[in-house]
Amino acid sequence: MSLFHNLLVKAVQVMPTKAVWFFSKNYIAGNTLTDAVNKVKELNSKGILATLDVLGESINNEEEAVAAKIEALKVLDAIHENKLNANLSIKPTQMGLSINEDFAYKQILELVHKAKQINNFVRIDMEDSPYTDLTINVYKKIFQEYKNVGIVLQAYLKRTYDDAVILNKLSTNYRLCKGIYVEPAAISYKDKQTIRKNYLKVLKTILKNGNYVGIATHDKYLIDESYQIIKEMNIPKDKFEFQMLLGVREDLRDKINNDGYRIRIYVPYGKDWYAYSIRRLQENPNIAGHIVKEFFSFR
Ligand code: FDA
Repeated sequence: MSLFHNLLVKAVQVMPTKAVWFFSKNYIAGNTLTDAVNKVKELNSKGILATLDVLGESINNEEEAVAAKIEALKVLDAIHENKLNANLSIKPTQMGLSINEDFAYKQILELVHKAKQINNFVRIDMEDSPYTDLTINVYKKIFQEYKNVGIVLQAYLKRTYDDAVILNKLSTNYRLCKGIYVEPAAISYKDKQTIRKNYLKVLKTILKNGNYVGIATHDKYLIDESYQIIKEMNIPKDKFEFQMLLGVREDLRDKINNDGYRIRIYVPYGKDWYAYSIRRLQENPNIAGHIVKEFFSFR
């Protein structure tokens, strides 16, 4: 991250939440589940799939984690009742992983069980590296009982290829992304080209093994390369999908959709939008600059 970029992100962090909301509203469906359902309906009407995420993470007490699980159960109900073409994404620390592994396992198990009853699917997001092993453990335990669950791998982590080799043996359903957290250089790649190279290496091993993968990126280079790999390896359309975040690169989203590939949009909603927004800002300095400008022009 450049010094200028750093300063911009810091400037945004000290701004009133209202100002950050100006930017956030593009990335978030709204405060309520109804907002999220309406957004998914809009996407579905264009033939685009969704995954719903209740915003929130790093919960440190069981009561809050249980409340987060209850909200996620409501999401599954809403998907079913509204016949949405969508599934559920959850953050393990929101389900209590930083409190206790077994507690989080039971919470996520309940969600996967419910999803199974309505023929749906739960994606376990991947958070920062202190949780990588714990998340994989929880996933593996749940997978012993239910197959409608999947995990996320991050191409910036040096360990990821080895993780994929192991997880491939379980017929794992993956989301593959670059990774969004700030990780120590000892365990992560920092250079854009190296991350891209690792992304494609991991993607190939997943596809070669016949596993399902959500190719989660807005990087045109990676999308073009993925198209090429899919063609060369003759991968059937029902073995992969593309995935993007709400409000990002809608031009590419529509292109993928028009090209006849499956595309799923990550639709976050809820009151805890601040941490999510700051992470999006850290990714994109142009937007941070825009928001700073907008904020000052309002005063
Ligand atoms: P890159 O960051 O290079 O972006 C490519 C281009 O996309 C940029 O040049 C810009 O044009 C545009 N772009 C990217 N981000 C933007 C933004 N915020 N606003 C506007 N434009 C933007 N990470 C993680 O660690 N764990 C997880 O579980 C997930 N889950 C997840 C789900 C889905 C569906 C997606 C798409 C992404 C994630 N991520 C994630 C985030 C992911 O790791 C990564 O940080 C972002 O996708 C950005 O990386 P790109 O591959 O898009 O490339």
